[in-house]
Amino acid sequence: MSGRIPEDFIDAVLARTDIVDVVGGRVPLKRGGRELVGRCPFHEEKTPSFTVSPQKQFYHCFGCGAHGSAIGFLMALDRLEFPEAVADLAQRLGMALPQQAMDSTDTGPPVTGLYDALRAASSFYQKQLRQHPAAADAKGYLKDRGLDGSTAARFHLGFAADEWDNLRRALGEQFSGDLLRQAGLLTGDKEPGYDRFRGRVMFPIEDRRGRVLGFGGRILGEGEPKYLNSPETPVFHKGRELYGLPNVLRHARNPDTLIVVEGYMDVVMLAQHGVDNAVAVLGTALTTEHLRAAFRVSSRLVLCFDGDNAGRRAAERALDNAFPELADGRDLRLLFLPDGEDPDSLVRRIGREAFLELTAGATPASRHLVDRLLAEVDITSIEGRARLSALAKPMLAKLPSGTYRELLGDEIGKLTGRPFGRAVAPARPIRTSASGRRPSLVQRAVLLLAHHPQLASKVDELAALVSVREPGVDFLLRLVATIRGLPQPRLDHLLEQWRDSEDGATLSRVLSSNELVPDAAIAEREMRDLVSRFAPQVKNDRLAELLHGTTPSQMDSAQRAEVLERTQELASLNRRRTNPI
Ligand code: UTP
Ligand code: MN
Repeated sequence: MSGRIPEDFIDAVLARTDIVDVVGGRVPLKRGGRELVGRCPFHEEKTPSFTVSPQKQFYHCFGCGAHGSAIGFLMALDRLEFPEAVADLAQRLGMALPQQAMDSTDTGPPVTGLYDALRAASSFYQKQLRQHPAAADAKGYLKDRGLDGSTAARFHLGFAADEWDNLRRALGEQFSGDLLRQAGLLTGDKEPGYDRFRGRVMFPIEDRRGRVLGFGGRILGEGEPKYLNSPETPVFHKGRELYGLPNVLRHARNPDTLIVVEGYMDVVMLAQHGVDNAVAVLGTALTTEHLRAAFRVSSRLVLCFDGDNAGRRAAERALDNAFPELADGRDLRLLFLPDGEDPDSLVRRIGREAFLELTAGATPASRHLVDRLLAEVDITSIEGRARLSALAKPMLAKLPSGTYRELLGDEIGKLTGRPFGRAVAPARPIRTSASGRRPSLVQRAVLLLAHHPQLASKVDELAALVSVREPGVDFLLRLVATIRGLPQPRLDHLLEQWRDSEDGATLSRVLSSNELVPDAAIAEREMRDLVSRFAPQVKNDRLAELLHGTTPSQMDSAQRAEVLERTQELASLNRRRTNPI
């Protein structure tokens, strides 16, 4: 069901998570009676039909039918795999993942050894910075750059001495040369190879959970290459990782802004000055994957670029890559730094407050896009306005549909004097109730149970339905049995118990209907009524059993009495059924 994460761990994570925090951190929610209500992040809507139930620990959109647990929410919104979503929640709770769960969050070749080797290397480099005789130069270099020892320690900075086999000798006993090479720590044509990083200050690159993925190593002073990075390995992909994530997440799980800069030192020095919401790309252009990862952390990004031409070109490229990620509720801004400055030099010069003020005033991507178009056409001429439309159209078509595209379309419409953009693509049709038909008794019972799983143990008579022969009863009984086996009768546990199973798919269909569900007390009454309406069948079956192969004359008196009793009951139940009270 859930890969290799133990079920009780998943249950513990769900039990300690409040879906209201998880969803509320990403979707603005307002109280609406028992539930919280907001605009659905999974489809476009003006009026809120997205609900979150604290009681059921369940979200449900009456517009598009999206629904699920806190785990399901993260999977859907952040496009996480199941184990990643569990890991994300566990991290928020400060719960350590069981080792087998750590492994199952990765697809591809087995990587446990790699993580261990990389972690050991990071510890080794940190120790070298403290102890190696030559580390004085590195410490001097960092000090000259204005870096505090405590900031260096916070980012786990280290030192690789200018020797060929320092790391290999230190880690060689614990890890095979092959593994160290695979981790990108050793290089060279001949076995066993030699240390890749020599004579450098080491910046470990850690993922959101603090696992070491690779390194960037800076030469002390001048030299080429200035930074040497780990090669691509099974766990390190330059075009995907953001440097500095653990520091950001330590300060805020969902910072309201994430600043994206270009350099390791930028992140580190910003943090030293109290700007703890910055990450860096690793010397590559900003990719769509970077943006996706960054939007997982915060729905507002400020991308910092150099003010020079190279910086402007980098910004254009980044914007092109950002298009597919500009969904509703996401805010992308660009900040061009003064010529000759990078965030490191700037924050040292102007300080935290002024730097944050600059980021707060960053240009929204939509405005930048419009400005860019305006620079290309003469808006005062009819031809110019027509050209603006022509240029804007393919650009808008690349944006996912949603308010972002609409706003941009409106903006361009204002400039060209003609409505624009809204018709680029029809909005996704909104699904209404699965079918117009009235649900059967069984379907209704399933719906009530799904939303109020505690009824499974409150309404004992449910077990008697085993003898009812109606479509869906098998499912209903499995539902009852499964709920009774849960650590607590709650919808999110049920959903995760049945994730990826056929029963789970059935349950999901039931939940995406827009059938009204009464609250607990009324649901219980309705359930009892439903069960009693099955009663004729239940009793009938008992009667059939009593009568099986015999006639009343062949029975003993007790059996005859029961047949009589059942027959009278049946009659009265049938009267009740045809004349509802
Ligand atoms: P910069 O050249 O802007 O360096 O490269 P920086 O961060 O300001 O470095 P300092 O302040 O001189 O120490 C920005 C980023 O590009 C990558 C690194 O990630 C660096 O932080 N880079 C740069 C490399 O990977 N290799 C290089 O040789 C240079
Ligand atoms: Mn710099």
